[in-house]
Amino acid sequence: MAHEKTETIHHDPEGRSDWSGPPKSSRLGRVCSKWWWLFFLLFVIIVLAVVLPIVYIAYPKIARRGSGDSTLQFTSLTIQNATPDSVEMGFSQIFYSNTSTSQPTLYPFNASFYMLDNDNNPPFASIQSPKIVKISNDTETDVPPQLVNITHMDEFTRYLRLALASESYTIALRGNGGMSTGGMPKTGIDYDKNITMNGFDGFTAFGILSFGVLDEAEADRTNAIGEAAIVNPTIMTLGLGDVTFALSVNGTDIGVATLNNLVLTPGYQQVEIRAVMDQPAVVGMVLALQNPVLPIDFTGGSSTVDGQQIPYFTAMLKDIVLQNNIDVTKSVESSGLVDRWSLIEWNSR
Ligand SMILES: *[C@@H]1O[C@H](CO)[C@@H](O)[C@H](O)[C@H]1NC(C)=O
Ligand SMILES: *[C@@H]1O[C@H](CO)[C@@H](O)[C@H](O)[C@H]1NC(C)=O
Ligand SMILES: *[C@@H]1O[C@H](CO)[C@@H](O)[C@H](O)[C@H]1NC(C)=O
Ligand SMILES: *[C@@H]1O[C@H](CO)[C@@H](O)[C@H](O)[C@H]1NC(C)=O
Ligand SMILES: *[C@@H]1O[C@H](CO)[C@@H](O)[C@H](O)[C@H]1NC(C)=O
Ligand SMILES: *[C@@H]1O[C@H](CO)[C@@H](O)[C@H](O)[C@H]1NC(C)=O
Repeated sequence: MAHEKTETIHHDPEGRSDWSGPPKSSRLGRVCSKWWWLFFLLFVIIVLAVVLPIVYIAYPKIARRGSGDSTLQFTSLTIQNATPDSVEMGFSQIFYSNTSTSQPTLYPFNASFYMLDNDNNPPFASIQSPKIVKISNDTETDVPPQLVNITHMDEFTRYLRLALASESYTIALRGNGGMSTGGMPKTGIDYDKNITMNGFDGFTAFGILSFGVLDEAEADRTNAIGEAAIVNPTIMTLGLGDVTFALSVNGTDIGVATLNNLVLTPGYQQVEIRAVMDQPAVVGMVLALQNPVLPIDFTGGSSTVDGQQIPYFTAMLKDIVLQNNIDVTKSVESSGLVDRWSLIEWNSR
């Protein structure tokens, strides 16, 4: 065998004298063609070793940092169609980001709202945030109103009372979602955003514009009607239903006022007040005080929607105590806008 091999090499038409083996390049080629799959595998491993950390470690980190750098500002929050254990809730938000380049797509997630006074608070509401495509700095997105079951009634009530009492307050929005940028794969993202909003500031921007006694009580016993001005300094729309206030003077009850189907909308609004007054008691006071203008206290009573009392709104309303000076002797025809000045004052706030 060795002899034959020597012979072959001697007769190499290209006159090669080196029979120790084929030229290096061709030997390499043969090794390559035999072990190509190994090289390919190595190549793939190297590529993956470089790309995977970028895609699955660096990119999610960048994505998370991008999300951490961003802030959310709410531009509207609506709570309507209340039942004793659910509401329809929706909001709009503006996303502000420091990273001007990436325009991530945010995938739907369960956004939960929390009070911030304790780390272990359960969420007071959870709402499904929709997919938001190519979100960029200063984009406004709508999360349309949806049914929210109130699973932690105490927490939801605490939230409403905070919103009522505060000039400004902060809550947290948290959830686990996903995001992707460009062709990158979806990566997980933990949301934890503090959101600061104006509150109703004690509902103090409430005043009686006009008030008058009816000559004859209506079928529902209403014997006085008037008009109230309300300024809602928040971005919230609150469908409170039929709202009652207990009327009293210096601790003595004189009747009940009702604001039917009250929907507080941001800004200024005027609403009708219908009152059932204890006229003998009122007349007695006017005579005793020798003054037709009574300092009437309005104490929040209850909220009713479609005949059902709404416990969380009722609890919130009970925190309201307001005083208005009202001339209770005027008839509807002669009653003027007694507190017109307040309207002007609130409007110019
Ligand atoms: C933008 O980045 C600066 C500096 O890192 C930081 O102070 C600021 O709060 C960031 N803004 C937002 C909207 O996250
Ligand atoms: C984001 O938008 C805000 C408001 O328009 C602007 O003040 C801010 O400079 C923008 N930030 C970037 C990184 O573009
Ligand atoms: C949303 O998240 C909250 C808080 O983790 C949870 O209680 C609720 O069941 C979740 N809702 C859905 C629809 O996943
Ligand atoms: C709310 O509760 C009702 C009845 O318990 C249920 O049918 C509905 O799926 C719940 N909705 C949400 C968004 O959790
Ligand atoms: C939100 O505010 C709370 C209370 O002020 C604070 O402890 C928490 O670190 C804040 N969270 C974020 C994400 O800024
Ligand atoms: C309110 O009632 C108290 C005692 O109950 C009395 O001293 C006071 O004069 C009353 N004020 C008015 C304005 O009627």
